[in-house]
Amino acid sequence: MKKILVTGGLGYIGSHTVVELINSNYEVVIIDDLSNSQVEVLQNIKKLTGVEPSFYCSDLKDRALVSKVFEEHAIAGVIHFAAYKSVGESQQIPLDYYENNICSLINLLQEMKTRSVDNFIFSSSCTVYGQADHMPISEETPLKMPESCYGKTKQMGEEIIKDYIEAERKKATLLRYFNPIGAHPSGLLGELPRGIPNNLIPYVVQTAAGVRECLSIFGDDYPTEDGTAIRDYIYVIDLARAHVAALNKLLQSEELMCLDIYNLGTGKGTSVLEIVKSFQKINKQVVPFKMCDRRPGDIVVAYADASKAEKELNWTAGTSIEESLRTAWNWQQTLV
Ligand code: WQD
Repeated sequence: MKKILVTGGLGYIGSHTVVELINSNYEVVIIDDLSNSQVEVLQNIKKLTGVEPSFYCSDLKDRALVSKVFEEHAIAGVIHFAAYKSVGESQQIPLDYYENNICSLINLLQEMKTRSVDNFIFSSSCTVYGQADHMPISEETPLKMPESCYGKTKQMGEEIIKDYIEAERKKATLLRYFNPIGAHPSGLLGELPRGIPNNLIPYVVQTAAGVRECLSIFGDDYPTEDGTAIRDYIYVIDLARAHVAALNKLLQSEELMCLDIYNLGTGKGTSVLEIVKSFQKINKQVVPFKMCDRRPGDIVVAYADASKAEKELNWTAGTSIEESLRTAWNWQQTLV
């Protein structure tokens, strides 16, 4: 059974990916510093899979701790989720974001180099495209300097990985997520935003639950059909399954100095107002909202051309927006 290190494995996307990895007969080791996750997630992973992965509550900035994990486990591949990810927060504390997101990545790659671990999957983001000139966005779309420090750490991370695999003749995969949403249908895993949610769906479900008074819709004057911004909302388990498919491909590949890049989305754009209306309809809940000014740094529209992942990974994001929103509401109700 191949052993996979998942950093940030107790986080939102990480935990769903750990479940899919175990269900695909991988053994999983988790490093997570619990800065944006909770240790209870480990027990919920065990409830879902019958397996409790090895867990290290560690900061990847501590090279000795990273080395200890590789000392104690014969790691066949690494999926690297662990990073600070709040667009807004990154503008307030940029140095913390550069130190955490970049130094953690470098520590991990240094250890992989020392231990000759060749297979690396990096959690990247569509934010590296900035506001792309044409839709849908393919992997050939030119990158633009992201507006946020968070986005810059993702773009720099990709460049570091490219240089690393060139110099060390390794192989890696960059997965550029669009907007992950939803939760595990069991109600055991989901998003656990700290404080006031930055992202749309957690704010919508908290408003429906009465935790928040009213949803602010940032901008109703965009050049879109209903004036609100458009994104590609992908169900979190479809996203998790893409990681397993990418890992399978990477482990089977003999080719070195190889970097695969995949956009992971549904290929469909949905506006903020459409999300709110779908949520209300499918969950029979009212979401009070008001139209507000645009949020600085937001782009107008982003949705993926996911055909490369569909073809090369034999994968599709098949879950509907409605089903994703149903799981999000189901999850929120377990939290109150
Ligand atoms: C979506 C839309 C908002 C909240 C970012 C990162 C991306 C990824 C996901 C990490 C926008 C609008 C939101 C609210 C609103 N990050 N909105 N009211 O900004 O597309 O992407 O988060 O995984 O890399 O760039 O996601 O959910 O914040 O916003 O109107 O209370 O919802 O303006 O149009 P975003 P988001």
